[in-house]
Amino acid sequence: MNALELINIGSNKLKMNSIKSFILDSEILLSKVLNKKREEVLVDLYQKIENNKILEFLEYIDRRASNEPIAYIIKQKEFWSKIFEVSNKTLIPRPETELMLEKLIRIYKKKTIRILDIGTGSGCILISLLSELKSSKGIGIDISSGALQIAKKNAKNMNVYENIKFQKKSLDSFFSQKFDLVVSNPPYIKSRDLKNLEDDIKLHEPKIALDGGNDGLDLIKKVIYKAKEILKANGRLALEINNEQVLQVSKILEKNNFRVEHIVNDYKDKIRSLISVLIK
Ligand SMILES: C[S@@+](CC[C@H](N)C(=O)[O-])C[C@H]1O[C@@H](n2cnc3c(N)ncnc32)[C@H](O)[C@@H]1O
Repeated sequence: MNALELINIGSNKLKMNSIKSFILDSEILLSKVLNKKREEVLVDLYQKIENNKILEFLEYIDRRASNEPIAYIIKQKEFWSKIFEVSNKTLIPRPETELMLEKLIRIYKKKTIRILDIGTGSGCILISLLSELKSSKGIGIDISSGALQIAKKNAKNMNVYENIKFQKKSLDSFFSQKFDLVVSNPPYIKSRDLKNLEDDIKLHEPKIALDGGNDGLDLIKKVIYKAKEILKANGRLALEINNEQVLQVSKILEKNNFRVEHIVNDYKDKIRSLISVLIK
């Protein structure tokens, strides 16, 4: 069988299982099996594929047909133009998060700062920040050992390991030092809305990365209280939230002496992150 025939078999199966990006996904999965870039596969569609590769490809297609995200199958996701390893213990980094990073890098360019990343997951936020702010240092915390293992690997692969510490701890633990910047993309979905998420997310991404409690604000509030305690005067808190939480979160920020300084919109022009300064 050749590559074209396999891509067609795969995409037909994905289409039958209502996977929207059925052709692209089939192409990506075949590229993964052949250990080649997608473009390389597409310019050589009549290459014969060995039997063991065909079986491997069909297994991947079955996994995708049951809504497992491509990133988990191929164990990687591009973020900030870097390839991050991911697993089903980490949230898959989202492109919206890059918009918050862009803003932060503009603010802190050429400065040396101490950063705390609360709920670091794959480490994508902190690692990307430190890859740009070369003389800065950071700590990433998470309660998931599985996520922290992946974050450490990513930091090593991206040559920022010396400037990073990853710690298994909850955000309500004690911190012995102060920070210039606290960043967090905390779980912020209301518990009762989890069942309405797309199958890719609902069935495969870690619940502790998504579940924000009854009103979705449990973790967000804790991040704000903790940031107030551990930020230096005029330090900043960068928080990714859901657009519908903007008013409530802004009020909680104000009550806790934060002044919202930058509002970052996502690609659909909805507010996605708030960057605020702690007035002490
Ligand atoms: C939405 S994910 C964000 C992951 C990553 N920062 C990103 O943007 O892709 C939230 C992360 O918070 C972690 N988390 C949940 N509860 C926590 C807690 N109490 N303390 C620290 N981390 C927590 C989860 O394990 C998960 O990795």
